[in-house]
Amino acid sequence: MLAALALGLSACGSGGDEPADLVAGKQQFVEKCGACHVLNRAETKGVTGPNLDDAFRQSLEDGMNRATVRGAVHDQILYPAMLDAKNPVYMPPKLVEGRDAVNVAAYVAAVTGRSGKDTGALAAAVEAVGSGEPAVAENGVLEIPAAPGGQLAYVTDKASAPPGPLRIDSPNESSVDHNIALELESGDEIGEVVKDGGVSTIEVDVDPGTYTYFCSVPGHREGGMVGELTVKE
Ligand code: HEC
Repeated sequence: MLAALALGLSACGSGGDEPADLVAGKQQFVEKCGACHVLNRAETKGVTGPNLDDAFRQSLEDGMNRATVRGAVHDQILYPAMLDAKNPVYMPPKLVEGRDAVNVAAYVAAVTGRSGKDTGALAAAVEAVGSGEPAVAENGVLEIPAAPGGQLAYVTDKASAPPGPLRIDSPNESSVDHNIALELESGDEIGEVVKDGGVSTIEVDVDPGTYTYFCSVPGHREGGMVGELTVKE
């Protein structure tokens, strides 16, 4: 597979060493790619596509340099290769283009396979998510926004509400599809999938207890888009 990607690089010439903006690259990666890919330094947890820390580990150990990895990632963004012909899963082409594609490829190549956390400007590039203040219902409405940066998380993984009729709104400013769903004994209540400022809404009637809310878009719950709703007087 990597051999094919490396060939793609020489064929398309994607500038493995032109200057790039890694901070912008990280932001775009988190928003446009992270819902499908694990990348430790970007703290993304998507499981639809391959783990991007593992993807280049062997090649880097074998001596491939990061500029070549960068070219391979750039090519994959513009002209996604199918990795497993027996189990064809495609990656959408051109999720980012132009400078954005250059920046994303440079960021991925700079951090792939690295443990620990980003530091300096890169650490501040993307707001941490998921551990915000618990959401509390007001007047029968609970608001649980999706992470605005596109991560697989709601802004909080804890919510509370009194028993009775409850509307849950989940605004999603990011460009990644998300919704809100709630596990109930009678079957899951599932809101509409939205993005770009849409609001996913469900209306339920809840008894005291604990419930799980989650995003039902495939792979998103597994990636961390899940939280706990506590219902009590
Ligand atoms: C909708 C899910 C999805 C999104 C979004 C996505 N990818 Fe992928 N990606 C995949 C899948 C699936 C594959 C594997 C393709 C295959 O096996 O046919 C893949 C493969 C890759 C590979 C090759 C990995 C390897 O093992 O060599 C790279 C690199 C990559 N993606 C980078 C990106 C970047 C960068 C972005 C953002 C611009 C991105 N992906 C966005 C699903 C996605």
